[in-house]
Amino acid sequence: MRLTLLAAALAVFVTSTADAKTVLITGSNSGIGLEFAKQYAAKGWDVVTTHRRDTAPESLSTLKNAYPDQVRIETMDVTNFDQIDSLAAKLEGTAIDLLISNAGITGDFRNPAPQSFGTLDYEQWENFMRINALGGLKIAEAFTGHVKASEDKTIVSISSLAGTFGFKGPTMPGGYWYRASKATLNMYIKIIASDLKKDGVIVASLSPGQVKVEKMGNVSFPGLIEPDVSISGMISVIEGLTIEDTGTMFSHDGSRHAF
Ligand SMILES: NC(=O)c1ccc[n+]([C@@H]2O[C@H](COP(=O)([O-])OP(=O)(O)OC[C@H]3O[C@@H](n4cnc5c(N)ncnc54)[C@H](OP(=O)(O)O)[C@@H]3O)[C@@H](O)[C@H]2O)c1
Repeated sequence: MRLTLLAAALAVFVTSTADAKTVLITGSNSGIGLEFAKQYAAKGWDVVTTHRRDTAPESLSTLKNAYPDQVRIETMDVTNFDQIDSLAAKLEGTAIDLLISNAGITGDFRNPAPQSFGTLDYEQWENFMRINALGGLKIAEAFTGHVKASEDKTIVSISSLAGTFGFKGPTMPGGYWYRASKATLNMYIKIIASDLKKDGVIVASLSPGQVKVEKMGNVSFPGLIEPDVSISGMISVIEGLTIEDTGTMFSHDGSRHAF
């Protein structure tokens, strides 16, 4: 009887693994990307985590130890197009249900001068645009075939309300490079969504809210939320997306925004 129950349990496990959906997340060694990886692994998904370091970050090795059959760790700097193309080739034949373009930089909010009018550091502009805007575009283009081959066919970019023209809320002082690069990313999302709608691919921009991530240290301010709150909210939004939502921006709380 015990053996029968064990066999039945194993069968369920094998079936659910074979049927598992796949998510690929850029910049998944910390903050929002890491929390997405943790939550999708806990939901039983296969998770392709990616990072830009020379060796696998400890955060991802720890996650892989917890979910050895579900989590894989790959190197991919979103500014390195050779690395992007080679990972896309390596994953050929793997359907990616959900592509999360998360890798991004914000700048040091404790030192706003390089992004403030009057003290702008123009040397930083290219780095922001290459990571936050071009990176998201290239990732979408490189992995579109994998997404089209999947069941869910979804691409989301972690963007920001601060990169929308209607934004009126509080934001970091200055933020010239950050906001302009996210606005560019949002425009790319709109154009990609329009191009891929005929293929049934849903492309959306997500605003995570103001999320307390490791790199912020002990800082605290009103409205700051914990990663698990933001990411579980964004996962609910993703689960509710339909092709009618393509080219749209949503906040983690489900509100829809013009951008
Ligand atoms: N936290 C917030 O309140 C907030 C609000 C709005 C939007 N966002 C967006 O959310 C995303 C994640 O940010 P986060 O807050 O979680 O910050 P984070 O902890 O600094 O995470 C950023 C991730 O992106 C990676 N990354 C940076 N440049 C990269 C590159 N060239 N190639 C590959 N990976 C790269 C980082 O890797 P390294 O560790 O190697 O640097 C890190 O894994 C970003 O796009 C950010 O703009 C965050």
